[in-house]
Amino acid sequence: MSTTIPALGAGTFRLKGQDAYQSVEMALKLGYRHIDTAQIYGNEAEVGQAIADSQIPRSELFITTKIWTDNFAQADFLPSLKESLEKLQSDYVDLLLIHWPLKDESVPMVEYLTELKKAKDLGLTLHIGISNFTTAQMAQAIDILGEGEIFTNQVEVHPYLQNRAVIEFCQQHNMLVTAYMPFAYGDVLKDDVICAIAENHQATPAQVVLAWIIQQGYVTIPSSTKEKNLASNLEYSKVKLSEAEMKQIATLDRNHRLANPDFAPDWD
Ligand SMILES: NC(=O)c1ccc[n+]([C@@H]2O[C@H](COP(=O)([O-])OP(=O)(O)OC[C@H]3O[C@@H](n4cnc5c(N)ncnc54)[C@H](OP(=O)(O)O)[C@@H]3O)[C@@H](O)[C@H]2O)c1
Repeated sequence: MSTTIPALGAGTFRLKGQDAYQSVEMALKLGYRHIDTAQIYGNEAEVGQAIADSQIPRSELFITTKIWTDNFAQADFLPSLKESLEKLQSDYVDLLLIHWPLKDESVPMVEYLTELKKAKDLGLTLHIGISNFTTAQMAQAIDILGEGEIFTNQVEVHPYLQNRAVIEFCQQHNMLVTAYMPFAYGDVLKDDVICAIAENHQATPAQVVLAWIIQQGYVTIPSSTKEKNLASNLEYSKVKLSEAEMKQIATLDRNHRLANPDFAPDWD
């Protein structure tokens, strides 16, 4: 079983039906071994089919899914996970995340985190983690699960939203940072500073952004429907950014948050 998470994975948010199937099919053919999906994306079945059709041994893959908020109650949590596993055509996922914390605590955090831990104890997931948790919610989650149990917090991170308080907390508690929406859905790829750095390295702006994220020790999961983009993103590692370039990109932070639904927590 794959216990290490590849630093670059393929995201699947917004991809439905054939688009999801084709994106995962292309990604796996190109060499991606880490795929990120979620119950709410409505594409676990297509993701699962593309994985099955790839004939890549399951042990070489790192698959993440996320439990949607409707399934947090004890009666629904594990049955919904089993449904996800059926769609994914797998006995387990490598990483299971709580997709969003509940602002209203209509299901108490202790209830859904207890189910999350149960999923791990039952071997239905190798790792457990959280997504979109603030520093206060991470502290609460650690109180419930204990130090060292939470593998990652998957949060929005890109040059325009650097999420420093959350990242600092993760680092203090040995929690991996998974940066979602690394391109701010394309916004940062037009940035003058990023484009100039890309030109210096004869690289694409996307490769510069990925290098900037991964050089800091984070994992990231950009999505793409295009083979050309999936392929060039995978070659981010040819870009080695200097300290000065890393610092220059750090100055671009501007609280440009894209994933901010009405049920979002009170952000740090
Ligand atoms: N946990 C959460 O709550 C949460 C929330 C949001 C997202 N996520 C995860 O994070 C993943 C990534 O986020 P995202 O898909 O919203 O946004 P993103 O990865 O920041 O941006 C995706 C966009 O970038 C474009 N793109 C990709 N590679 C490119 C390249 N090399 N050059 C130019 N454009 C490029 C894609 O267009 P093309 O298709 O044309 O390439 C697509 O429009 C999601 O798929 C999902 O798995 C998690």
